Amino acid sequence: MNQPHVIEPLGQHLLNIEDLDRQQLDALLDLAVRIADDPDQFANQLAGKVLINLFLEPSTRTRISIEVAAKRLGMHVINFHPESSSVVKGEALIDTFNTLQAMAPDVIAIRHAGDGLIAALAAAAEPGVHVVSAGEGSSQHPTQALLDAVTVLRTRGSIEGLTVTIAGDLSHSRVARSSITMFKKMRAARIRLAGPANLLPTDGIDGVDFFTSLDEAVTGADVVMMLRIQRERFAASEVPDDETYFASWGLTPERLALAAPGCMVLHPGPVNRGVEIASSVADGPQSLIRKQVRNGVYTRMAVLLSLVG
Ligand code: CP
Repeated sequence: MNQPHVIEPLGQHLLNIEDLDRQQLDALLDLAVRIADDPDQFANQLAGKVLINLFLEPSTRTRISIEVAAKRLGMHVINFHPESSSVVKGEALIDTFNTLQAMAPDVIAIRHAGDGLIAALAAAAEPGVHVVSAGEGSSQHPTQALLDAVTVLRTRGSIEGLTVTIAGDLSHSRVARSSITMFKKMRAARIRLAGPANLLPTDGIDGVDFFTSLDEAVTGADVVMMLRIQRERFAASEVPDDETYFASWGLTPERLALAAPGCMVLHPGPVNRGVEIASSVADGPQSLIRKQVRNGVYTRMAVLLSLVG
């Protein structure tokens, strides 16, 4: 029988990285690293608790990762399928949420395309119902940022002092927004944002350097995070064809050679090979993409334990 571990409580919900102070962040990341080092020690610590995955946007990694994390902790998991639910009869999101929380789950993990909606639902949550943002519009993806930090910490031991480059479609990236906040809070030395001018937002993002050349942005970087073009969120005419985009914005072995030795390559997925990243880089020795996915399970176990445990 595993002994219970001392867990730092996180508050009722996890909606973004901004709300976490450094102590909470350190405790959460430390717990995720401890889980990663010995996941079996934490097995079944939330036995009998219930998690509902309320995903209203497609997902492979996040939804299944949350389900695997919850099941490793012994939770029961219910996956909501919008296409076979009363959403198709016109039920409002708040009514769907209230219906689900009336069944007294412990956690509702939500993904939605609209910015601000998950926070609004969390504000309506009853005590004892914990909301986890599983990705919201173009603004928040806190568990992705946490798993990225865990991946860098498990590889390098610290984020402090690193030069981090985030490149691609930053305009539509919730991963970028959460990760920028994360890397700042963890005292990265420099954060560089790089992308085509029409996909590079400068408003409301401070404390970073902007680049419109990937070669310049990658030079000397310790971490390079590549982002896909989110074509589902804007008109196709706003970006060039894949081949033209790759020529300027694809992470190739030649471009990666400009980075610092041992530069860590991250990608939240899904990857578009030959568009924002060459296959040889995505599958190469510096790629941590699969480790990100593995660490995602441990990170979400840490989140669930910190909310419910
Ligand atoms: N990284 C990420 O959010 O991937 P999914 O959309 O597959 O969940």
